[in-house]
Amino acid sequence: MSETQGVGTHHDLPRGSGVEIFEEHYAGKPGAGWEIDRPQRALVELARRGVFRGRVLDIGCGSGDNALMLAERGLETTGVDAAPSGIELAREKAARRGLEARFLVRDVLRLKEWGERFDTVLDVGLFHCFPDEDRPALVEGVSAVTVPGGRYVLMCFSDRQPGTRGPRRVSEQEIRTAFARGWRIEVLRPVELEVAFEPGVARAWLAVMTRR
Ligand SMILES: C[S@@+](CC[C@H](N)C(=O)[O-])C[C@H]1O[C@@H](n2cnc3c(N)ncnc32)[C@H](O)[C@@H]1O
Repeated sequence: MSETQGVGTHHDLPRGSGVEIFEEHYAGKPGAGWEIDRPQRALVELARRGVFRGRVLDIGCGSGDNALMLAERGLETTGVDAAPSGIELAREKAARRGLEARFLVRDVLRLKEWGERFDTVLDVGLFHCFPDEDRPALVEGVSAVTVPGGRYVLMCFSDRQPGTRGPRRVSEQEIRTAFARGWRIEVLRPVELEVAFEPGVARAWLAVMTRR
């Protein structure tokens, strides 16, 4: 697979998860509800407790703050996103902060085609972007890039979040169903996802699972 994997131009962006909207925001359109410009508090806490280990992959990494927090802790970190402008921003942040992390343009629905393997895969706000029909490909891709015994750490909007602002809501059962085969769910609990709109947090799920 090439460095840009054929999604480097706007009209080549993958469909279904709204990448074109994300790309527009990373390219300068204001008002991105997810862009908090710092790592998620809940993840900083998990990192302190040693949940992230080995080679780490942040899927749908956006402008990279979560991945960079892990790189800063000395983890070998890669971030992938289908929005080329997001990857540009992440690379700029890494350079400005003097951090070593690799950022690549990738469609996560094609992760299976990639030869690389990781010990921990992180997903903040990506899973909930996809319609039902794309979930099997996402789970298959995550399964393919995670070593046996490796971890997947997931944060996504919860069906307990009121109102309509933000992405689709996900139920606990949907997560359990999506990862029923090939994964052992170690943790699945409510968590606050920090967002860039009032009141600053949204109800979300935190899942930590192990690849069988
Ligand atoms: C809600 S944003 C979260 C970004 C980042 N994880 C964060 O916490 O700030 C979702 C991200 O998923 C990316 N994304 C959506 N569909 C994708 C796909 N098919 N492949 C790779 N990335 C995708 C978007 O471009 C966007 O950066």
